[in-house]
Amino acid sequence: MIGFDIKEMASDTYYDDEQEGLDEQIIIRLSYVTAENTPKGRTASRFATLVEDKTNGQVIVHLFPNATLYNDKNEWKAVQNGNVEMIAPATAKISEHYPEWQILDLPFAFPNYRAVEAAYEGEIGETLLEELDRSNVKGLDLWYNGFKQITNRDYSIKTPDDFSRLHFRTMPGEVIQEQFNQLNASSSTLPFSKTYQNLEVNFVDAQENTLSNINTKKFYDYQQYLTISNHGYLGYGVLINRDFWNSLSPSIQKAINDSISEATDWGRRHAIEINDQHARALRSNKSLDIYTLSAEERAQWFRTLQPLYDKTRQTVGSDLMKELNQIKY
Ligand code: LMR
Repeated sequence: MIGFDIKEMASDTYYDDEQEGLDEQIIIRLSYVTAENTPKGRTASRFATLVEDKTNGQVIVHLFPNATLYNDKNEWKAVQNGNVEMIAPATAKISEHYPEWQILDLPFAFPNYRAVEAAYEGEIGETLLEELDRSNVKGLDLWYNGFKQITNRDYSIKTPDDFSRLHFRTMPGEVIQEQFNQLNASSSTLPFSKTYQNLEVNFVDAQENTLSNINTKKFYDYQQYLTISNHGYLGYGVLINRDFWNSLSPSIQKAINDSISEATDWGRRHAIEINDQHARALRSNKSLDIYTLSAEERAQWFRTLQPLYDKTRQTVGSDLMKELNQIKY
């Protein structure tokens, strides 16, 4: 008898087929609205590299920046329906569907980066991510960007009175609308990807955003005045379609979770520096007039916006508000 066994060959072949089946490539489409050179873009790209490495190329992440696939208006539906596997919208955009998320968009909720980190990575973040279990998405984590600043077309905004009668572009979310109501400004909720052209045609006078978003989207073309106010924080929920998630093996889920945690870590350590790079670029832009609020001016904004805290408490509940207060003091 010649030296190989047909049964063994068959079982070897079967084993190879199994392996092939197991190694089938998994594509994750991650759609987001900002430019690539932003905290979100860079964190997403870090995640893509990490998960590809950890799975030896079995999981590939296709990144779709700049709202090329979906914008603020349709990305939520797209991830629910599985037309895209992952999105990372601003927390304000999630609060449209889950009002408890409004707590993260309260003006002056966070006195510094450490407070943001404590909320995102502590009890508040955990509670909010669990809230998402009621929908067809799973909340994986919270990602960092930075504090929001104000830009305006015709003059520097320094006092609460300076907001009066201006028309602002805003993200969705009740707390943000209320913020502008309280300041006697009007507002329109517009997708991030449409902000530039709405500034261009003067449909809106002003907007709030992080320095990385202001610089990468060239809002300064139509916004000569920038106020460094650090009045609110802009960060993201990282969401994955639940049916897709449930279809993955435990080892792939682990690789994704580990990669997300490492990417979040990286984002936390680099988001400030990325915004600082954009701050330097904006400072060297001669056409831009930059004003930094004094501590007294910030305190005046905070006092004006106080009524939002009572309203938001009614929506998010006193437990979460208590958590927030404990972080601050
Ligand atoms: C905005 O709409 O202004 C931001 O949410 C954009 C982003 O994703 O940072």
